[in-house]
Amino acid sequence: MTRQLTPGARLQGKVAIVTGGGSGFGAAIARRFGEEGAKVIITDINAEGGQKVAAQNPESLVFQQMDVTKAEDWTTVMDLAFSKFGRLDILVNNAGITYRNKPTAEVTEEEWERVFNVNVKGIFLGSQALVTRLMEQGQGGSMINISSTGASRPRPGLVWYNASKGAVSNATKGLAAEYGPHNIRVNTVSPLLSGTGLFSMFTGMPDTPENREKFIGNVPLGRLTDPDDVANMCLYLASDEGSFINGAEMIVDGGKCI
Ligand SMILES: NC(=O)c1ccc[n+]([C@@H]2O[C@H](COP(=O)([O-])OP(=O)(O)OC[C@H]3O[C@@H](n4cnc5c(N)ncnc54)[C@H](O)[C@@H]3O)[C@@H](O)[C@H]2O)c1
Repeated sequence: MTRQLTPGARLQGKVAIVTGGGSGFGAAIARRFGEEGAKVIITDINAEGGQKVAAQNPESLVFQQMDVTKAEDWTTVMDLAFSKFGRLDILVNNAGITYRNKPTAEVTEEEWERVFNVNVKGIFLGSQALVTRLMEQGQGGSMINISSTGASRPRPGLVWYNASKGAVSNATKGLAAEYGPHNIRVNTVSPLLSGTGLFSMFTGMPDTPENREKFIGNVPLGRLTDPDDVANMCLYLASDEGSFINGAEMIVDGGKCI
C-alpha cells in the first residue's frame, strides 16, 4: 500500500544521485530532494556550479565532479554513495545538452555526436551502473530520466536533440519493463522550455520579452517551465508516493502539447 508521507520527510533515509546538478533543473531537483530529507550527491562536469549548489545545504548535499559519458566516473560516483552514505535509492539522469536550434543540413557531425553522447550514452552508462548496485542492495529504487516534450512532439530546428530525447523516453520504457521485477522503477519527466539561459539555444531566437510572449501564447497555463515544476515531479517519482508508477512519461508543460 502507498504510504502517506510527512511533508519535509518524503525522502527521509534515501540517498540520491542527481547528474548535471550544478545548474538549472538539476540544481532545483537536488535542493528539493535535500529539503525532503534525502542525502544527495550532486554531479556535474562543471565543478564551480556543482560546489555552489552543494554549499547551499551542506548537511544534505555533496558535490562530485563527473562526466556522464565516462564509465569510470560512474563507478566513482556509485562507490561514493556507498562509502559516504551506505546505500543508494535514486538516480536522476538530468545532465543534457543541445546544439543551437537550426535546420538538419547545418548540424555538424560533432554536434550530433556530443548530443547523443551526453543525452543517450550518459543514461546507458548510468543505467548499467545503477541497476547492478541496486540489485546487489536488493531493495529496489527509482531512476528518473529527464527527457523533453520534443521527444514526442518534435518540431523543426532541434531534430537531433529531440531524437536523442526520443531515445531517452523509449529506453525508459524498456528499462521499466526490464527491471520492474527487481522493484526498480524507471520513469521520464518531459518538461517544456524553461526560461533558463538555454532559451535562445532551444528556440534559435534571442531571449527577449517579445520572443518569450510568442512562445507563451501557445501554452494554456500561460508560462514557461519553472525548475521547481520539474523538481516537484521528480520528488513524487522518487518518493514512495510514486511506488506504483513505472515506465510513465510525466509531461510537465502547462498543457502546451495537448
Ligand atoms: N531548459 C529547458 O528548456 C529544457 C526543456 C526540456 C528538457 N530539458 C532537459 O533538462 C535537463 C537539464 O537542462 P537545464 O535546462 O537545467 O540545462 P543546464 O545547462 O542549466 O544544466 C545542465 C547541466 O548538465 C551539466 N553537464 C553537461 N554535460 C555534462 C556531462 N557530460 N557530464 C556531467 N554533467 C554535464 C552542465 O554542466 C549543466 O550544469 C537536460 O537534460 C535538458 O535536455 C531542458
